[in-house]
Amino acid sequence: MSFKHKHILGIEQMSKEDIEIILDTADAFKEINTRDIKKVPTLRGKTIINAFFEASTRTRLSFEIAGKRLSADTVNISGSTSSVVKGETLEDTARNIEAMAPDIIVIRHGHSGAPHYLAERVGCSIVNAGDGAHEHPSQALLDVMTMREHKGRIEGLEVAIIGDITHSRVVRSNIYCLSKMGAKVRLCGPGTMLPPGIEKLGNVKVYTDMQDAIKDVDVIMMLRIQMERQSNIMLPSLREYARFYGLNPTNVKLAKSDAIVMHPGPMNRGVEISSVVADGVQNVILDQVENGVAVRMALLYLVSGVESMQTS
Ligand code: CP
Repeated sequence: MSFKHKHILGIEQMSKEDIEIILDTADAFKEINTRDIKKVPTLRGKTIINAFFEASTRTRLSFEIAGKRLSADTVNISGSTSSVVKGETLEDTARNIEAMAPDIIVIRHGHSGAPHYLAERVGCSIVNAGDGAHEHPSQALLDVMTMREHKGRIEGLEVAIIGDITHSRVVRSNIYCLSKMGAKVRLCGPGTMLPPGIEKLGNVKVYTDMQDAIKDVDVIMMLRIQMERQSNIMLPSLREYARFYGLNPTNVKLAKSDAIVMHPGPMNRGVEISSVVADGVQNVILDQVENGVAVRMALLYLVSGVESMQTS
């Protein structure tokens, strides 16, 4: 195994081999989460700071759980409870955090490039937990881990990603990750939510008709509309959006009969996905959440430089 990255800033910088190492490491860590005592000594003595300057349920909790299960000391700060509200800059906040000698800072920030900016200015490892509309690497890795579990492979899969492509960091990381692993990506949304040139990021075809986009695919990934990142309203009404771009029990049948339905969360039921489909037999949405803990354990371990996984 040779994972050379000190930071996890995005999937764009990773090779196929890097992704395979992360997925195999996550597979090995996953079993720990089924034990009565869900703790191994792998990162004992390491300090991890989870700095979340944007709202999060899944990513923040699973990074914290991942760190604790590896016996690291984990500490959380958020934008609203830190001195950022008093006007402190991101760099000053990070330098002050660094003075307390953490080994890893996990950061979610509303500005694209914030983790990269910090990685150039602090000495510890930086893990990107989502930066603006740029990348969400740990999400794409847990998505691909879930696809690999359910489909047995990534190479050759047809994956449709439907929704607000413009504002989605999940989609960018998934395009890089799936393309490097040999899958084909179909992106679909209203024209106002499809940024020009997105197809150049990987093995991508762009659609505006959802029926065409999901025909015979192996995987359907639905995205929510990111109202918080929209400066102009990009659609006439949510009702109309649901009619043309919502996944429902009728159009889901256009995909392969064994297709899986994914969603990174949080879901807006009745908008991009109907409750019948969100809770239906094809959904693997909570498997994604479960795999999120294992993937984040793998990332924290791999950037830590610790040599042994110590899983027993
Ligand atoms: N998928 C995801 O990033 O969810 P959270 O915003 O709840 O972390």
